[in-house]
Amino acid sequence: MIISLCDDPQDVADLAAQRVADLLHDSPRAVLGLPTGRTPILMYDLLAEQHAEGTLDFSQVSTYNLDEFVGIGEDHPGSYRAYMRRYLFDRVNLTSGEGHVLDGLAADPDAECARFEEAIDAAGGIDLMILGLGANGHIGFNEPADRLQARTHRVRLLEPSRQANAGFFGGDPAQVPAEAMTMGMGTILKARRILLLVTGAEKAPTVGAMINGPVTPQLPASFLQLHRHVELICDTEAASALR
Ligand code: GLP
Repeated sequence: MIISLCDDPQDVADLAAQRVADLLHDSPRAVLGLPTGRTPILMYDLLAEQHAEGTLDFSQVSTYNLDEFVGIGEDHPGSYRAYMRRYLFDRVNLTSGEGHVLDGLAADPDAECARFEEAIDAAGGIDLMILGLGANGHIGFNEPADRLQARTHRVRLLEPSRQANAGFFGGDPAQVPAEAMTMGMGTILKARRILLLVTGAEKAPTVGAMINGPVTPQLPASFLQLHRHVELICDTEAASALR
């Protein structure tokens, strides 16, 4: 794993946006895997700025989001589809229908997960998967557990994850849906390259365990040790537990 150490969250965003821009300049038809959460917002701002300046073109790009809540759709401001519209899709020239997010209102979430997995394969797989890190070690919504599911699947959220997402639901964890759909760790590890963005002291112990500890389903992020092309872009606070 390559570790790129940055001074602060703005530098993390600068480097992440540069990685995305470099890829899109080399491969205008790239397939991106995208995260939500607080961490990537500054990166999305920079991508939108570069697009507004005329230096970044999304017209041939397609994107696949990591996860979505079950039971809410794009009309709900807490849905990840609404998040993606707010921070990226409505700010760049992505072709309509090429920003793929699992449908939280699908009548059959299991079938929706299978459809999504097939759509990623049909697109040729993900060239660059960008990830955030849950404080409990989750990736997407692959929660710490005795066993992990490899492919895109439905999941019951743990309480810490509902609390971490409460900011998008008026600050009330009880308003956060109890279930979500997420790419599996196998789906994620099939991506050709992975960027993991982490900021803040709160996640330092998780970053330390993810890199120095064993590969274990109790810390889903530790599975990233198995991939050949992972770059962790983190600030000094998040890296403070690294040896
Ligand atoms: C949510 C998302 C994850 C994300 C995590 C971290 O739980 N499902 O994909 O990485 O939040 O969020 P934040 O960046 O806000 O700490």
